[in-house]
Amino acid sequence: MSNLSTAGRPRVIVFGNEKGGTGKSTLAMHLAVVLLNRGLMVATVDLDSRQGTFTRYTANRTAYAARRGAAIPLSSHHILPPSLAPAEGEAEFTQILDELAGYDVAIVDTPGHDSELSHFAHSHADIIVTPVNDSLIDLDVLALVDPVKRVIQRPSHYAERVWKAKQDRARRDGGSIDWVVVRNRLGQLDARNKRLVGRLLNDLAKRIGFRAAEGIAERVIYRELFLDGLTVEDLAVLGERGSLAMSHVAARQELRSLVMALGLQSTLETGSVSLRRGADGAAGARHGACA
Ligand SMILES: Nc1ncnc2c1ncn2[C@@H]1O[C@H](COP(=O)(O)OP(=O)(O)OP(=O)(O)O)[C@@H](O)[C@H]1O
Ligand SMILES: [Mg+2]
Repeated sequence: MSNLSTAGRPRVIVFGNEKGGTGKSTLAMHLAVVLLNRGLMVATVDLDSRQGTFTRYTANRTAYAARRGAAIPLSSHHILPPSLAPAEGEAEFTQILDELAGYDVAIVDTPGHDSELSHFAHSHADIIVTPVNDSLIDLDVLALVDPVKRVIQRPSHYAERVWKAKQDRARRDGGSIDWVVVRNRLGQLDARNKRLVGRLLNDLAKRIGFRAAEGIAERVIYRELFLDGLTVEDLAVLGERGSLAMSHVAARQELRSLVMALGLQSTLETGSVSLRRGADGAAGARHGACA
């Protein structure tokens, strides 16, 4: 087991934001693949199975591996059906985490709206990652902004939910939750809006206790490999689609920065699967292990 897991259970990383379409599923998958390609035991958990983007992405990856005979690492994937009553969902989520002893990381994707199960998962997180699109509309779920003075008035509902999740976690096991907000789909244009959102997020970070990670740009490469279940990280490993374009190199760097911001950098230092897992031979077992 790596130093990522604590007391036998995986590090739980929950992607959450009650605003829809901010990049939760996209970034959850990209983080999962970065960590998989570094030889970690990664579980993926879909709490938004009605929409099912995360599940579809992982299924596409499994299908690609089978179709192409590609030795790409796969996660152990888990789905919570939307039909579950809250108590059933919570029991099932707890059971999944219990069964993941020995895994390094569990990456949990949640829906773009509040639900009891999503809140329960948030309260089990070691890290909550909240992608926000670079827009004042997206900022609105985190904080109310004074339209005249352009300053933060007060935290709004999602920020309050995260605060409650932190309290629930502390009460349950004394643990703490690291909340990281990452700006997504940063564009080259609109420097004024970018500066304003950046300033407001920095003010807000101090007031409601999150860390602001470096942003992720708007790039075609973050969406175009979905049907194959691949990410830009796989292109480098597979080395079969020619040399990487500049934007691909930049995308890999952004993902690397995200890993660093989440405090998972030890995984970057250990290098490849064989380097990380060679000693106990555990890595090979994961190729093709997607449940
Ligand atoms: N950095 C990016 N560059 C380009 N496209 C992106 C980027 N991030 C996300 N997208 C695209 O934005 C859309 C929304 O992303 P995604 O489905 O990951 O968001 P979500 O927060 O999971 O949404 P929901 O709340 O509906 O589950 C998708 O079409 C996705 O391909
Ligand atoms: Mg989603």
